[in-house]
Amino acid sequence: MNKLEAVLKELQSMAMKIYAQSHGYHWNIEGRDFKQDHAFLLEIYEDVFDSIDAYAENLRKIKAKSPFGLEQLQQNSALKINDSLDLTAEQMFVELSKTNLQIIDKLKDGFDVATELREQGIANFLADRQDKHSFWQWQLTATLKPNIM
Ligand SMILES: [Fe+2]
Repeated sequence: MNKLEAVLKELQSMAMKIYAQSHGYHWNIEGRDFKQDHAFLLEIYEDVFDSIDAYAENLRKIKAKSPFGLEQLQQNSALKINDSLDLTAEQMFVELSKTNLQIIDKLKDGFDVATELREQGIANFLADRQDKHSFWQWQLTATLKPNIM
């Protein structure tokens, strides 16, 4: 497996995990800001859900197979999400923020690998994903203010 295949598989797995996390929080969040929190989480999970397909298709472009078994996807990244059913709204946003920051770091690695291999199209895709996750990070951080993260 080359470096690009490895990092794309890892990012695909991370996308599956943040998808499950944001959708699960969308279902379970409670509090005075329920309506807007519920809608914000929907925006995130719809965006990351679409990215899963793009990771898979980019894997196929470099002649690698795209994993789809949930266990296999689970094993492809060490990222752990907090799937407790007892989190407050604030704890959910802190947890989601932690996950999102790890994805941003991995996207930076992926961009470097794609660029090194002169896979410009994939590098562009990863740069776009970094931009989108940075957008979510801004909104998560703004949601959490003035709480300490
Ligand atoms: Fe829903």
